[in-house]
Amino acid sequence: MNIILMGLPGAGKGTQAEQIKANYPVPHISTGDMFRAAIKNETPLGLEAKSYMDKGELVPDSVTIGLVEERLNQEDAKGGFLLDGFPRTVEQAVALDKILAKTNRKIEKVINIDVETSILLPRLTGRRICKSCGTTYHLVFNPTKVEGVCDNCQGELYQRSDDNEETVANRLEVNIKQTAPLLDFYNRKENVVENINGDQDIKVVFSEIKKVLDTLK
Ligand code: AP5
Ligand code: MG
Ligand code: ZN
Repeated sequence: MNIILMGLPGAGKGTQAEQIKANYPVPHISTGDMFRAAIKNETPLGLEAKSYMDKGELVPDSVTIGLVEERLNQEDAKGGFLLDGFPRTVEQAVALDKILAKTNRKIEKVINIDVETSILLPRLTGRRICKSCGTTYHLVFNPTKVEGVCDNCQGELYQRSDDNEETVANRLEVNIKQTAPLLDFYNRKENVVENINGDQDIKVVFSEIKKVLDTLK
């Protein structure tokens, strides 16, 4: 399964990726997570990415595309992959096709998690993540049983540094601009895009995604 999870910031890409990973044998490749890991490890890549992420801007294609190519050529991605947050520009999508063509692969499905932009700001500002296991929660929409403590591993929760109102507003603006041309690009490919209504219960969204993925097996 060579799949892309597409959707605006807060649409639920990471949340659905957790469910997909638990049900299908595919590595979850999130460029946002890769950049955050690089920032934590204080690598040169992390230093560069941080300056863009803090402002809610896109990290330049020259950095991002090479990173994804390297990841897609690792052994565990050869039998399939779940891309989350990449591509987000037409340039990245064109580059991805070229990268995959080198090893006779192609994108089978683009799962587009579609939501009204008005619900995204509260989703992002209320997001909390477990420091230990990375599970994503929401203060209101997906709360932990005990406030501030992860249900899975009792880890402590934190808030992403780009989930403040100001950065979120710019992230939304930047990503909204890229979405229409990117969707046009994939809509030109036959039977690739599947639109899923992301403004439903997390479990309902996953059951709709599952129906799509089960057609690929
Ligand atoms: P990235 O980490 O990918 O952030 P993003 O695209 O802004 O998306 P999010 O992770 O914020 O949202 P999500 O869709 O995963 O939502 P989630 O499931 O967590 O990228 C960060 C930055 O890195 C970018 O700004 C950019 O700078 C850089 N970057 C990354 N990729 C790049 C690229 N390709 N090119 C250039 N730069 C790049 O859910 C959000 C909240 O909502 C959670 O609290 C969750 O519990 C809740 N929720 C989820 N689903 C539901 C539901 N159905 N109902 C109610 N609540 C829900
Ligand atoms: Mg995410
Ligand atoms: Zn945890």
